[in-house]
Parts: sequence; C-alpha cells; structure tokens
Amino acid sequence: MSKPQVFVSRKIPEAGLELLRQHCDVYVWPHDRAPTTEELIAESKGKDALVCLLTDKVDARALAAVPTLKIIANVAVGFDNLDVAAGSAAGVLMTNTPGVLDETTSDLAFALLMAVARRLVEADKLVRSGTWTGWGILQMLGHDVHHASLGIVGFGRIGRGVAKRAQGFSMKVNYYDAQPVPPDLARELGASYLPLDELLSTSDFISVHVPLLPETHHLIDAAALRKMKPSAILVNTSRGPVVDEAALVQALREGVIAGAGLDVYEQEPKQAPGLAELPNVVVLPHIGSASFATRDKMAVIAAQNVIAYFAGENPPTALNPEVLRSSSRA
Ligand code: DGY
Repeated sequence: MSKPQVFVSRKIPEAGLELLRQHCDVYVWPHDRAPTTEELIAESKGKDALVCLLTDKVDARALAAVPTLKIIANVAVGFDNLDVAAGSAAGVLMTNTPGVLDETTSDLAFALLMAVARRLVEADKLVRSGTWTGWGILQMLGHDVHHASLGIVGFGRIGRGVAKRAQGFSMKVNYYDAQPVPPDLARELGASYLPLDELLSTSDFISVHVPLLPETHHLIDAAALRKMKPSAILVNTSRGPVVDEAALVQALREGVIAGAGLDVYEQEPKQAPGLAELPNVVVLPHIGSASFATRDKMAVIAAQNVIAYFAGENPPTALNPEVLRSSSRA
C-alpha cells in the first residue's frame, strides 16, 4: 500500500519530520518564508495531508482547491488561521497542538511582564550604548512586580500558568473568563474572578490569554484601555487582533496606561505605526512557545495526528472529530 503523501509548509523540528517520514512520504517547503496561499495550494495538490503553521491561512477556497487533503495538522495551539467550519463541511479533519506549550508560553508572558515593569530592554540598551555614567539613584526606575495586582484575561491553561507564576511574586491575582473556573481550582491558583471592567480598572498588570474569536477581536480597545489605571502595564501573548493596536499606541503615547509587553501583532510581521518607537513597550517576534523542547513537542503532536488518522485511529488533538465519523474524503 502506498504511503500517505504529506506536505509540510515549513521546515519544522526534526523530531516531527522524522516521525512523519517513518509512516508517510514527506515534502517540506524548502524556503525560509511562509508560502503564499497560492503556493500552499499548488504544493498541497495531490497530497493527503497538510502540516501547516499559524502563518498559513487555510480557508474554504484552499480546501476546495485541494480535494485530496484529508487532514490538516496545525503546528500551533491557536487555530484562527484555519476555517474549521469549512474543514468540517469539506470532510477534512483539522488538528492543533494543545497542552504542550502552556508552561513555555506562561514563562514568556511573565518574562514580558517583568521586562516592561523593570525596563530591562531600555536598561540593556543603555549599557550597550556606552553612555551609562554609573549608578544613579533616580536611574531607570520601574514598577514593582511583587505584591502588585495582576488581572488575567482568559483563564485557560496559559492564563492559569501565569497565575501560578504570580504566586511566587506574592501578587494579588484576579481573572476574567467567559466561563469562570470551579471555586476550588481558583482557590488553588490563588485567583479570584472579577467582571472584566472591574479587573481592568483595578489591576497593576493585565495579561491577555484568550483565543482569537469574533467575540474577542479588539476585546482590548480604546474604551478598555481607558478603564485601566494610568500606571497599568498590558501584556499580550495571545493573538494580536485581541488588542486594538492603533488604540494601544495612542494610549501609550498619551499616558493612558504606563507600558505594554507584546509578543503578537494585528498584522504580523508588521506593527502599528509608532509602536516600536515607544520606549515604554517591549516588542517580541511571536516567540511565546519558542523553546527547543516545546517546539519539538508541537511538531511531534502534529505528526502523531497525521499518523493516527491514516492508521484509522483517533488523532489525539482533533478540532473537528465529527469528521472522523462522516468524512467523504477518507
Ligand atoms: C500557538 O501555538 O498558537 C502559538 O501562538 C505559537 O507560539
């Protein structure tokens, strides 16, 4: 029996590729850039599976153009780049990589919070510039993290990971989520539920951890920013469009809030005009899950999903498992 044909839209960690190659014929996009949608379609033609990244948009048009595809394995937990409803309608299974990147992304959110609060990037630049004149009592003053209040918007696995880290800094942790967690779990994490407006207006730090959905698009808009304290610091490691970036630039310029730490942007790899010039912002290139071990695990889960599908088993992290019972493409 011939092996399933798999197109991988970018060179992913070898751990995932090696596993895939044991069971499938694997074609890897050779360039060090994301394929355009047209290129993605062209390269996927005749393939049974696509392993793709969050930079690849897979919509109804792409699915219709490649009727041979049976499974699309996204190497990311966020899947706003996939039209899952279109996948289900076309009988294509879609999968993501939940569970393996939570701790790594929580680490990064906390690192960003610390970096903005204590002005680490500015301070590093000062030393490197050769213009540092020595210790100064009024130099590079920042905000205390310990004992400050932290508002977590979105209390899924990553938000909870941030709450755990905050405990070590004796922070007062509140969270908002459309679905509050059971009281026992909240207690264990030292977190209390607050309605969003109250959380925004009382927190020293606000860290955003919601998925990008129509309901969360621009959840943090100009009005939400105006509710925050002038000393507040906003951290976003979720998806760029959750924050209205132009409104954020204006708020940071006008002192509506004190600072921001961002790992994600509305139009990656671009930023809103003026954002990267602001001194009270730390801007990272979407590296929330970028540790060696975690990226290996993400690639392996994507490979396991593809392999399980073609072995007639249940792929471990299916987004639309109903397809397995009804697929006309199988
Ligand atoms: C994800 O998996 O959704 C992350 O954004 C990648 O770092």
